Amino acid sequence: MNPPTPSDKEVAGRAAAALVEDGMVLGLGTGSTVDHFFLALAERIRDEGIMVRGVPSSRRTAARATELGIPLTDLERDPEPDLVVDGADEVDPELRLVKGGGGALLREKILASLGRRVVVVVGEGKMVERLGTSFLLPVEVTPFGHSAVLKRVAALGRCQAFLRTADDGQPFVTDNGNYVLDCRFDRGIRGPAALHARLSQIPGVVEVGLFLDLCDLVLEGRSDGTVVEHVARKA
Ligand code: A5P
Repeated sequence: MNPPTPSDKEVAGRAAAALVEDGMVLGLGTGSTVDHFFLALAERIRDEGIMVRGVPSSRRTAARATELGIPLTDLERDPEPDLVVDGADEVDPELRLVKGGGGALLREKILASLGRRVVVVVGEGKMVERLGTSFLLPVEVTPFGHSAVLKRVAALGRCQAFLRTADDGQPFVTDNGNYVLDCRFDRGIRGPAALHARLSQIPGVVEVGLFLDLCDLVLEGRSDGTVVEHVARKA
């Protein structure tokens, strides 16, 4: 019997694991695509004996890495990861990203901002012509005053904003103890940089799920088993 065909997410994750070198400090993103990176990385640790350590972007990732035998570290010990690998909810042609579907956007952005190289792994359907057209934009906000902050986000962002809830109907709470607003833009996000600036200035907004100028390489897995590399054009 033939082995099962790897999924689009799996080929992307495996391609990222091939970029890891012995001794690297890694930033470990969050999500279902980067989970394939963790699996392939764990294989390399086991089979090749490479020594790496990773800073997790969420409790979920910390638990998964521990389960797979990937050693963990933190930004106090290792403040400049060599390679950050993460997923994304949307990627535009300039490799700008929407992130935060899993609610880990704040720690993910801190890691991406500190990493020497940031590689994003996605499956099919994540590449878009304009951000905000296929996914709601996550914005992390403080619980204090969140209803008032939601109104300001909607007004300044010219969007509809919704408080994210968990399965029990209560507000979804991030690893940092905050809430998440999901923002819908009728015709997508026309000026991501200007929007990011407008939303970031609202007191109570902790982080915006727009990742601009942070990504060096996108590995887009396809269901035919190929991986398309999208390389950032640096200014
Ligand atoms: C986590 O907060 C997100 O930024 C994820 O990286 C993003 O949602 C991608 O997740 P999937 O790989 O599961 O689509």
